Formats: sequence, structure tokens, C-alpha cells
Amino acid sequence: MHTIRSLLPWEWPKLRDHLLRLDAADRRMRFGHALGDRGIDTFVRHINWLQDRVCVAVDDGGAVIGAVHLSRLDDGAAELAFSVEAAHRGRGVGQALADRAILAARNGGYRRVHIFCLAENIAMRRLAARCGMRLACEATDCEGCQRLEPATPMSWLSEVIGEVAGLAAATAAFGRHGWRLLRPAPPSVAA
Ligand SMILES: CC(C)(COP(=O)(O)OP(=O)(O)OC[C@H]1O[C@@H](n2cnc3c(N)ncnc32)[C@H](O)[C@@H]1OP(=O)(O)O)[C@@H](O)C(=O)NCCC(=O)NCCS
Repeated sequence: MHTIRSLLPWEWPKLRDHLLRLDAADRRMRFGHALGDRGIDTFVRHINWLQDRVCVAVDDGGAVIGAVHLSRLDDGAAELAFSVEAAHRGRGVGQALADRAILAARNGGYRRVHIFCLAENIAMRRLAARCGMRLACEATDCEGCQRLEPATPMSWLSEVIGEVAGLAAATAAFGRHGWRLLRPAPPSVAA
């Protein structure tokens, strides 16, 4: 079982640990190039939490098993970048993250979302197509784009209900695993 919710800024080590569990091939798919442990640590530490959103899939033990990072592009559109751990793929986690992130982008005032992936990334291309994105591929790269409807009271409510459900699950997990959540943030990954 997993729940989808926004990652709280102080939970960033959970996102880092999730990305560190991706193998080299998956990191290449996620970032478009090879990235070592130190690069992942730096990437997560530099997320702009005031502007970006990270929606995560969390398992019953409170660990992040999937994530989508919503960031702002120069032209004011939103970019979505996905990662789901290998053991949890093909079960709709990517789709659930996409649904939440697209809703968050719409409610955040964005009028378009984009994804960028390698042309060889069939799973991401299928996920993008399933979300209704138009995909354009050139040589080794693909870009997907979807226009968003303006937010409505119903789209706001829908996101709030999803987040409340996610926070309720997080509170329950805190009751079971609170001591782990209270650990101080671990130090940077060594070079
Ligand atoms: C792309 C990714 C996020 C998909 O996550 P997921 O949880 O498996 O996604 P879902 O279960 O919701 O499935 C989404 C679609 O991908 C397809 N899919 C999943 N794994 C696949 C695979 N290995 N090969 C081909 N298609 C695959 C599913 O069948 C589904 O398509 P469908 O609806 O047409 O059947 C995941 O594979 C991943 O993290 N890959 C490594 C990082 C990456 O590529 N990130 C993208 C950068 S933007």
C-alpha cells in the first residue's frame, strides 16, 4: 500500500534516500545523464522549496518509494520529473504521482506542464501519453506537453482532500515509526 502526498521541506532526506536507491540506468533515465551519489545529494539540497513542489508515494513504513518534482521553467510552464523504485513499477504509482502533480500544477496557476525524457524511455513515454500529453521526439530526446485548464473550486477541493488523506497516513506512520522521523538529518554523502 502507498499514499500520495506532498513532501514537506524538512523531509528532504527521504527524497535523497529514494533517489540514491535508483541504479545507474534509472538515474540516467531520471536526470538524462549519469549522476553519482554526491550529485544526488547536491541536487536534493538545492531544491527551491519556496517555488517547487515534490509529490511523493510513501509506503506504510513512511519511506518514499516514488516522487515527482514539479519545477518552474523559464517560460513560466511547469516541468515534471518522475522516479519510481524498480520494485514498485508497473502498478500505477507513476500514474498516481502524475495525476497529483498535474492537479497541483493546475491549482498552482500553471497553464502548461512539460516532461523531458530520453527517447528510449518507453515507460515514461507511455505514462506521458496516458496523461494526455502530446509527445514530440527528436533524435535521443522526447518532450511531452499538456495544456491545463484554469483551477476551479472543485480542483482545489480535490487536491486538499488528497493532501489531507496523505497527512492522515503520515500521522499514523509517525505513531508507528516516530523515532525514525525524529532522527537528525544525516550528513552529506561522501565524495
Ligand atoms: C517512468 C516511471 C516513473 C514509470 O513509473 P511506474 O510506476 O512504473 O508507472 P505506471 O505503473 O503508472 O505505468 C505507466 C505506464 O508505463 C508503462 N510501463 C511501466 N514499466 C514499463 C516498462 N518497463 N516498459 C514499458 N512500459 C512500462 C506501464 O505499462 C504504463 O503504460 P500503460 O498505461 O500504457 O500500460 C518509472 O519507470 C521510473 O521511475 N523510471 C526511471 C526514472 C525515469 O525514467 N524517470 C522519467 C524521467 S521524466
